[in-house]
Amino acid sequence: MIARFQTSWRAAGMSVVALGVLTFSGPAFGASLGDKPVTFTKDVAPIFQEKCQNCHRKDSMAPMSLITYVESRPWAKAIEERVVTRQMPPWHIDKTVGIQKFQYDMSLSDAQIATIVKWVDSGSPAGDPKDMPAPKKWPEDDGWQLAREYGRPPDLIIKSDLYTMPAQSQDQWWRPLTNIPLTEPRWVKAVEMKPGTAAGRRITHHALAHLVQHDPDAPENPNARGSDLRGPDEAGTLMEWAVGKNYDIYRPDTGKLLLPGSHIWWDIHYHAVGEKITDDVQLAVWLYPKGEEPKYRTYLVGFGAETRLDIAPNTITENHGYHVLKQPAILGNFQPHMHLRGKAMAIEAILPDGTIQPISYVGAFNFNWMTNYIYTDDAAPVLPKGTIVHVTAWHDNTTANKNNPDSRQWVGYGDRTVDEMAHAWVNVTYISDEDYEKWASTHKKDTAPRGRASAQ
Ligand code: HEC
Repeated sequence: MIARFQTSWRAAGMSVVALGVLTFSGPAFGASLGDKPVTFTKDVAPIFQEKCQNCHRKDSMAPMSLITYVESRPWAKAIEERVVTRQMPPWHIDKTVGIQKFQYDMSLSDAQIATIVKWVDSGSPAGDPKDMPAPKKWPEDDGWQLAREYGRPPDLIIKSDLYTMPAQSQDQWWRPLTNIPLTEPRWVKAVEMKPGTAAGRRITHHALAHLVQHDPDAPENPNARGSDLRGPDEAGTLMEWAVGKNYDIYRPDTGKLLLPGSHIWWDIHYHAVGEKITDDVQLAVWLYPKGEEPKYRTYLVGFGAETRLDIAPNTITENHGYHVLKQPAILGNFQPHMHLRGKAMAIEAILPDGTIQPISYVGAFNFNWMTNYIYTDDAAPVLPKGTIVHVTAWHDNTTANKNNPDSRQWVGYGDRTVDEMAHAWVNVTYISDEDYEKWASTHKKDTAPRGRASAQ
């Protein structure tokens, strides 16, 4: 059985090699639009407003603004290339495998891609200025995204000590400790994290906020990674920040408990960018109302596929990890974590009856984007006790990988960007057997296999 599904994922992984070249060709997208002319003002600007300007506007994270025609026109060819290969917007999950319902899905629809392709291929016409939609209003500063969502500022903002990264340096890991300013126990509903400044964003590779608190009553995290356990007072990771992952919202009736006297222990990975930059990392916390206690705790678990990373020069490797769920659990999201050689990652559930249920597959992993794919409440997989969570990771150490700094190097597991990792960050909520049974009795159909990995 195991050999069978390994082979099917291998086939899935290898098809990625051809994906950009074969599947998403411009004419295939353009053909569906018929003879209707496509212009910037009427057809393209509304798409850019909806899917691009969040990042592509002045003083935001992207290299150029895509607001006006004059700003966008010089980028037409690059835009076509990036949207057809589904590199932009940075949403790299395979649309044919596993769960497809996500919160905050920023991807383009096929029809939107077809519109952009047709616009570029017909010479990128401006169109009638009267068709131009009113400019979209953006909040004054780039504040907290969830503040917009919830309509109120965070209850707590916790800042790491400042760090100065010199212009030239080896990678650095900054691990200060910060007190959490609480006088009574409170439950966390959502967290958001970010570097303090736009300059800081450039040097911050990723940042972890571990929770250090003495909580003898806390149930143990049954699927903790070795590195998640750092002594009796380590309560696990509260949040991980990387470009493309900004926040975690816990599902209804789930959360994390913060106790007075606890601390955030930061683990911030900086890399030098040729300019001296000083910055901190900030964590915003939204709490449940006083006295309101969610039923379940959520744990951030790193499901690894990295026990024996041994990546020879000029090779593509495949590694597997198997993790038994010791209690029924809800998986809230999928966030592949790899470094420069990362190529693709799949996660699937091997149910106790042997059925294989594909969950998610990021086929076009790009190290610049650690996008977090958060399932909608009704789509998040609910798995019985004894399920094996199977993670498969592919690394590409050849010159075909544009992010590869040197295909002649052997690469193994390690912290530095030039070393490798391979794990899926997943928010796991363990539920009682009773709640699982209740769920299963109304969701029989969902346990059937789906997606191509189990179709054979
Ligand atoms: C989440 C933020 C974000 C969104 C949404 C986004 N982009 Fe980007 N884009 C970036 C960043 C950051 C870069 C530079 C890093 C990179 O290339 O990955 C970039 C790079 C690009 C580039 C390459 C520029 C170059 O230097 O060659 C193109 C073209 C592009 N984006 C087009 C788009 C289009 C079109 C959309 C919407 C359909 C979009 N992007 C949505 C953040 C974003």
